[in-house]
Amino acid sequence: MKKILALPGDGIGAEVMESALEILDYLMTRDNLDLQVNHKSVGGTSYEEHGLPITDEALSLAKDSDAILFGAVGAPKWDSLEWDKRPEQALLTLRKELDLFANLRPAFLFNELADASSLKKGVIENLDILIVRELTGGLYFGEPRGIDKSVTPAFGFNTMRYDADEINRIAKIAFEASQKRKNKVCSVDKANVLEVSRFWRETVTDLHNKNFSSQELSHMLADNAAMQLVIDPNQFDVILASNLFGDILSDIAATLTGSIGMLPSASLNEKNVGMYEPCHGSAPDIAGKDLANPLAMILSLSMAFRYSLNLDSLADELDKAVRCLISNGARTKDIANESTFLKTSEVAKELIEILK
Ligand code: IPM
Ligand code: MG
Repeated sequence: MKKILALPGDGIGAEVMESALEILDYLMTRDNLDLQVNHKSVGGTSYEEHGLPITDEALSLAKDSDAILFGAVGAPKWDSLEWDKRPEQALLTLRKELDLFANLRPAFLFNELADASSLKKGVIENLDILIVRELTGGLYFGEPRGIDKSVTPAFGFNTMRYDADEINRIAKIAFEASQKRKNKVCSVDKANVLEVSRFWRETVTDLHNKNFSSQELSHMLADNAAMQLVIDPNQFDVILASNLFGDILSDIAATLTGSIGMLPSASLNEKNVGMYEPCHGSAPDIAGKDLANPLAMILSLSMAFRYSLNLDSLADELDKAVRCLISNGARTKDIANESTFLKTSEVAKELIEILK
């Protein structure tokens, strides 16, 4: 039996999770799936209940799961908490403790929604990019780090550091992912300024020459990559990036599609255990109003089927159902042109009708 852990988190996390679980429930009954679903609070919600963004119990349950569905965490009301109590720490702890080093962030456009993009239709149409972001190293985890107020002027510092093993394992994921796509990898760095980037570029190039020479590999400076993403996003297939650059570029890529509420993501370790979460955040401004778009969470469930639960055909079916829903004209508020739109709680019901 495979185990799933649902961590809805804060804000709209709860609502979008409910939609995804409704669909999971339906499929479990329909197909008699041998899955166990557990639930825990996380983020600010966990802080309110237990004084911690993630409890040891939730963490060990996560370590014992095959797939974790993660909603979203954070809200302004927890911004002033001490560092280790902040909701984001739950996310960073899970990534590090489960060694979820490979973050896959697809950015694709449903052509029917091209008008929602800030880019011209001709530039954005058929967009289909995959950002492969390193998630457990680099600037976000490098030591030493800290704030030193014992001197004048006081200062803050972090360390961007990658060893060859960390670069090789994430680059391998990018090359392998491109084999199922257009065979093109663009590796992003700041090799004109940073030693760590020069080493990154060298290591990726060596791996390419050794094991993936039939793939097309290019290198691009991160600032240029940000610009190219808004000028001509369709030049990219797979983008390979470190933790910091991948964080920034994936927000740009996601928003190109006009609807960050549609994009899923997967964070995997060597054993294909994964955490699956929408690219959007907790959106406290619309939380609890039944307005959120649950499709990113639902498509994250589909990625969980594909990458951790060995249920590829179910993933295909669910992806297809979402495409069908969109082409039928169904729209949540974030992507609607008109004043009538589907509520969060109505989306799963529509999808289940399609799945039937
Ligand atoms: C993301 C988010 C997180 C990150 C934050 C919430 C810690 O921006 O998943 O992209 O920086 O990785
Ligand atoms: Mg981010």
